[in-house]
Amino acid sequence: DDTFNGSDNGKITDTPMKYGRKILSQLSQFCNITNMQTTYGAWMSDAARFNEDRYWLAEHFSGRMLLEYQNAPLFLNTSKKITDIKMFYQGCGHIISNGSFYFHKAGSNQLIKFDLETGRTKAVKIENSRYNKLSYLFNNSKTYFKFAVDENGLWVIFASSSHDTVMVAKLKQDPFSVQTVIDTAYPKMKTGNGFIAHGILYITDVRDRRVTYTFDLKKESSFGASFDLRLHDGILTMLSYYPKKQLLYLWDNGSVKNSKTLDQDLDNV
Ligand SMILES: *[C@@H]1O[C@H](CO)[C@@H](O)[C@H](O)[C@H]1NC(C)=O
Ligand SMILES: *[C@@H]1O[C@H](CO)[C@@H](O)[C@H](O)[C@H]1NC(C)=O
Ligand SMILES: *[C@@H]1O[C@H](CO)[C@@H](O)[C@H](O)[C@H]1NC(C)=O
Ligand SMILES: *[C@@H]1O[C@H](CO)[C@@H](O)[C@H](O)[C@H]1NC(C)=O
Ligand SMILES: *[C@@H]1O[C@H](CO)[C@@H](O)[C@H](O)[C@H]1NC(C)=O
Repeated sequence: DDTFNGSDNGKITDTPMKYGRKILSQLSQFCNITNMQTTYGAWMSDAARFNEDRYWLAEHFSGRMLLEYQNAPLFLNTSKKITDIKMFYQGCGHIISNGSFYFHKAGSNQLIKFDLETGRTKAVKIENSRYNKLSYLFNNSKTYFKFAVDENGLWVIFASSSHDTVMVAKLKQDPFSVQTVIDTAYPKMKTGNGFIAHGILYITDVRDRRVTYTFDLKKESSFGASFDLRLHDGILTMLSYYPKKQLLYLWDNGSVKNSKTLDQDLDNV
């Protein structure tokens, strides 16, 4: 099942790949948490914190409202706090890290860091990026910018406006800024979704059925891969890695899922 194809030839050569194998072994083992009202959306917890039992929802692929739930991965009728971020987010690629909500400001090439405590915002411009006119990075989820947090911190995945390749920028959280930009040379036309874990970018095929491409962001080298993600169709709008929890979160055709059993997940709440 978990066999590498291509240049890696089945061998696990270094530590990132060992971690990668562990992450990938979780694929296809997702548990339904609950069905949502909307086909598109993102669900999040604070990626930088372990003992954090708040969860957030950003419904649809565009909106201004961030919904916060206490102790409730099931998103049932528990108390929820609604935050108006006062501008529109675009796509399903947002993330929450260390108390801030990071999102793509619709219609612009700006990424926003929104402090959930104070409501203060900081913006960063990503030059040479696709950000409008339906030229999405991830067409299935109408996403131009996909944030990711891994063991190394905050990243953003986007598409180059000159070559339509998948780019990855390392972001500094404080002060909010771009540290480095890497061109993976992989065509955005071939991407379904993607996440980053242990410094490795994982990209799914256009139907989001398999992980078909991996790129080591430290060595700046790619290797072929082929791992099942899901056996069914339907719109996958979000696939994110949570380094503190060592989990993947999905929003799969209107169902929210994670890569651990529901029982284990509830035990932690
Ligand atoms: C998860 O949800 C999907 C769609 O709602 C359903 O087809 C599938 O059978 C569910 N899986 C489990 C294990 O409940
Ligand atoms: C949630 O609240 C709605 C309306 O208040 C109600 O119709 C529904 O049954 C409730 N669901 C649960 C799971 O309690
Ligand atoms: C996280 O936030 C706290 C304050 O809320 C700050 O002191 C700390 O430096 C932040 N950590 C990172 C990695 O930005
Ligand atoms: C993007 O997705 C839409 C459906 O949401 C589809 O009609 C369109 O053909 C897709 N475009 C590309 C380039 O895959
Ligand atoms: C995806 O969700 C839609 C709407 O709920 C449903 O009609 C469709 O059957 C689902 N597709 C899959 C593959 O589960």
